[in-house]
Formats: sequence, C-alpha cells, structure tokens
Amino acid sequence: MPRYDHGECVIHEFLDLPQLLSAAGIVRLPGSKSISNRVLLLAALAEGETEVRDLLASDDTARMLEALKVLGVGVTALGNENWLIKGCGGKFPVKQAELFLGNAGTAFRPLTAALALAGGDYILKGVARMHERPIGDLVDGLRQLGADITYLGNDGFPPLHLKPATIMPGGVVKVRGDVSSQFLTGLLMALPLTGEAATVDVIGELISKPYIEITLAVMARFGVQVHREGWQRFTVQAGSRYVSPGTVYVEGDASSASYFLALGAIGGGPVRVEGVGRDSIQGDVKFAEALAKMGACIEMGPNWMASRAPADGLVAVDLDCNHIPDAAMTLATVALFAKGTTTLRNIASWRVKETDRIVAMATELRKLGAGVEEGEDFIRVTPARLKPAAIDTYDDHRIAMCFSLAAFGTPLRINDPKCVAKTFPDFFERFADVTKAAPVIAIDGPSASGKGTVAARVAAALGFAYLDSGALYRLTALAAQRAAIDWADEAGVAGIAAALNVEFFEADILLDGIPIGDAIRSEEISAGASKVAALPAVRDALLFRQRAFNTTPGLVGDGRDMGSVIFPRAELKVFLTASAEERAERRYKQLIEKGLSANLPDLLLDLKQRDERDSQRSVAPLRQEPDARLLDTTFLTIDQAVNQVLMWFREAK
Ligand code: DC
Repeated sequence: MPRYDHGECVIHEFLDLPQLLSAAGIVRLPGSKSISNRVLLLAALAEGETEVRDLLASDDTARMLEALKVLGVGVTALGNENWLIKGCGGKFPVKQAELFLGNAGTAFRPLTAALALAGGDYILKGVARMHERPIGDLVDGLRQLGADITYLGNDGFPPLHLKPATIMPGGVVKVRGDVSSQFLTGLLMALPLTGEAATVDVIGELISKPYIEITLAVMARFGVQVHREGWQRFTVQAGSRYVSPGTVYVEGDASSASYFLALGAIGGGPVRVEGVGRDSIQGDVKFAEALAKMGACIEMGPNWMASRAPADGLVAVDLDCNHIPDAAMTLATVALFAKGTTTLRNIASWRVKETDRIVAMATELRKLGAGVEEGEDFIRVTPARLKPAAIDTYDDHRIAMCFSLAAFGTPLRINDPKCVAKTFPDFFERFADVTKAAPVIAIDGPSASGKGTVAARVAAALGFAYLDSGALYRLTALAAQRAAIDWADEAGVAGIAAALNVEFFEADILLDGIPIGDAIRSEEISAGASKVAALPAVRDALLFRQRAFNTTPGLVGDGRDMGSVIFPRAELKVFLTASAEERAERRYKQLIEKGLSANLPDLLLDLKQRDERDSQRSVAPLRQEPDARLLDTTFLTIDQAVNQVLMWFREAK
C-alpha cells in the first residue's frame, strides 16, 4: 500500500510522493473533458432534452454547467455524474448576463462563439491566466459574420463584451488554425445558430486536428453534419440545427489515460485503463502508439487499453507531437526513464495553455536533475539520476499529473496538488491504487532507548536506507549555535534547518562538507536538539528532507514522529522503549566507554526531563501510535530486538 502524505504548510498545500517500486492494476477513467464540455453546450443549444451520462466532474465542466444555468438553460443533476439538460433550441432564455469561466478554455472559446451568434448582451470573464490566453483569431472570425465583440482588457484577449448584432447570412469565415484548434471548434459549433449555409476556411496549418475530429463527431451526434475538404475548408449546410439524440455517454478521458499507461510502461504493469480504447473519437488515444515507439507493450480493446514495461527498458524517441499536444507532456516525463535523449517537436501550442508549458516543463524537469533543452516549439529531455525536488504546478493539472511519474526515480513533492481538479479530481487516489511505494519501517521511542542501533541494524539486514531523524534536529541545534542563533528563535532556527547542508555517510555525517564526528552527541547539543525540535517551523522545514529518504528498496527511520507525522502510512510502526533507569544505565556505559565523564543520577534526571519535553510538546509529541507495535527492550539484547522487528516486517508485507 503506497503512502501519499498530504500536508499543509504556511505557503501552500503539497503532496509528498515516496519513490515507487512498481505499478499494476486497473483504472476506470473519468469522462473526457473535451467531450464533456462540447456535449453540454450542444445539449443546451439543441431542441429537446438530453441525458448526459458519465460526465467528467471537474472544475472545467463545473464552469460550463454554471454558465448554462446563468443563461437560463435547464440543468438537473441526476446523480452519479449523469445530468439532464433541457435544450433551448439555439435561443438562450437569458439575454443579458455576466459569465465567469475560470481557466476553462473548453468553456470560454465555444461559449464566446455561441453567444456572439445567438445574440444578447454578455460579459465573459475568467481568471488572470485566462485573460492572458489569446482569443483574437476567434473574435476576428466572428466579426466577419457581423458579431459585435469588444475587448474589455487587452486587444486580442479576454475579458470580452458581446452585444446584440445583425449576423450576416452565409458567407465565408477565415480563421487561423495554427494557434489553437479551439477557435475552429468554437466557430463550427456556433455556425448552425445562423440557420444559413456557412463555410470556414482555415488559414495556416491546422494544429491539434484530432480535437476537430471530436468536435465533428459530437456535432454529428446532435444531428449536424459538417462537410470537410481536407483540413482547410469546413461547410455547414443551410437549415442545420441541433437535435437531442436522447442519451449521450461521455467517453473516458484519453489524455488522463496517458498517465496510467505511462505508469505501466515504467513500473512493470500491466496497467489497464477502462473507458477509452480502439473505438475512441479522441485523438489522444494515439499516445499509446507513441509509448509503443518508446518500447512499451500495448494492448487495446474497443474501450480499454493496457501497457506493460518492455524487458529491455524504454528507449528515447524523436517525435512530432502536433496530434497529441496534451498527452505529449506525459512523454516528457516518461523520457526520464528512457535510454537516450527524447525530442518532442511541433508543440508550440503548449505556450498558450494553462501556463507556458514549455517553460514550466523545462524548469521543473531541471529541478529533478534532468538535462533539458527547449526551443520555440520543441523540448528535448535527457535522463539523469533524479534528485528529490519540490515541483511547482502553475495551476496546471497536467504538470501535476505528469510529474507524478517522476516518483519512479526519486521521492518528490508536488505543490498545489489540488490543481488536478480541473480534469481529474481523484487522480492521486487512483494513482495510489495502482502503484507500490518503497516500504518504510518507522521506529519511534524515547531518548537512549537503543532505537538508533536497532534501526541501523534492521536497515543493514534488509539493504534499506537508514534515517536517523534525531541527527537532523541535533545538526540544526549545532548549526544554529555556530551561527549564534538562539535556540528559542523559531524563525532563525527554521531558516538554519531549511538550509542545512548535510550529507549522510555510513561512518559519519558531513555538515558543510566537514565531518562532525561526535559533536552532535554532547549533552549540550542533546538539550538544544530537544528545544529546537519543539518549534513547529523547524519541524516543517525538516519534513520533506526526511521524506526524501523514502527511496527504493526501502527505508528504516528512527525518531519520535516517524510513524505519526513523517511516514503515517509506514508498512510497520514500532514504538521502541525501555525503562528510564535502563536507558540511563546504557547511556552511562556509552559515555564511560568513550572516556567521557558521566554521573548516573544526573543522566537519569536529564533523560526524564527530555522525555517530558518530547512527549508534552504540542507538535508531533512522542507517543505510541495506535497502530504501532510496542517493543520494550529493557530485558532484550540488541539481536533479539532486531530479530523481532524483522519478523514483524515479514508479517506486515
Ligand atoms: O533521537 P535523538 O536523541 O537523536 O533526538 C534528538 C532530539 O530530537 C530529541 O530531543 C528529540 C528530537 N527528535 C524529534 O523531536 N523528532 C524526531 N523524529 C527525532 C528526534
């Protein structure tokens, strides 16, 4: 069972992913965003009622549903993502309204076209990023038909003001096809509202053609056939009108399928996605072919697809991705696990999406250590040994989803993971269902209980990494002391903790490149560590640093909050303790063996004080978790304790 640890910190929310071992399983996909919003709009414009089944529940569809309600369209939730839309026969009942469409391009563009031709006084707005996404080519096309559209901000960009106008019958509209295919989609879907014959001529090369195929297929479902001459000229016949087909099923989202097919290709598989397959009308199913070019084993049925990793590993590709612009982002992170340098070409449309996706992908891939070259319309990725990083997601669902794949190479943090709600609200839950993370054994307990020795030996026996989390608090206390920062100065010490330059080796720990030996084990630093560990900002600053130890093949972590806060879903949690007297005795012997002076009653008092402070503090106090197993070592040898933990771990697996 993988662990996905949500957390909130001062700045934003994040999700920490452990390194993954493998992926296999079945995922039922959410409905396609592109189909959902097209179906909703055409159902609203049609004559008759339409029952829309398996609609995608997401931000983008919520914006469309809201807008339709504001426009007076009858919208009823039937439960289970099924909706009843009462069509208005091309005439929206509300003639004056202000619509807020968030960052939903699939709502903004087609609604602009439909409202401009349907007639009325409307203001269309979105979030700040929506106001940076071009719409001038669509507006120019609509103006050729007589539409009255004013820019309320910058020319060529939303927000827009649409006013009633006389729409010219028939005629030829010219529209650019090389910025966004959504302009053509918007125009085509709106043209039947004029009631006359109309032709659209595409200027320049039409990008993202498969999305136009979706548009034509959905229009056909609602009774309007578009005559197409190549990809240059599209004609809607006079008298065309939308008629409800009764019930429409929305296919699963093919772009969303890409993440899971990629998981199977990298993590072994098989991973099977249900809801799209060979018979899909979505161009992004072609992603499977691209993945096959990288070596993945792909199988397909009419409405399912499955992927497995090749025996010899994935290989790099050099690919024109114009036909799969969204799914191509997934290829950029699959490239991290392919032999050689992958080049994704003809992706200029990435620059005008939720964010400038070429810049965003390049920036975040570099954070992980990958080699990246970027150009106006391409990106080139060379794999490297990945390092933990906090990935920014730019309010772009696809950045969050495709970077989750990088967890096969390193633990990582995804900032603002909820942005996936745009198209796939429960993405990370489905992701967790089909992935297996590197296991963790969490050993917590009081000072000098022997947990450090036991944890290190268990790690060695299993070939796992070992995290001595107490050492991080000790290092923080030492580094703060060296920087003359008071241990009570929360912000100051947290700054030190965040910037700790530390490397762990079996024999020693390096602080700023210098071995620290026993400098962090003195009684003074022990007391300092206990003090700084009580400061919430310090614990926050050290959180991801600790989770970054959760690598393959596994981890043994010891501390006070391994099982409660850092690795709450650890495979095995142990609360390791011994009586205070026994612990003081052990500490006494240790100090004497090192030739240091020690006094048993003082040590006992000190231990009890530290126990008190560690267990009484408000953040991450020392306590036995309900799901932790108690290991009292007062009367056990180290070997006995180690064997007990190993036995429990075998049982837990
Ligand atoms: O385990 P140790 O004695 O090296 O820990 C040093 C101090 O750090 C101790 O006072 C408790 C604190 N600590 C903590 O609060 N949380 C951890 N996970 C580990 C240690």
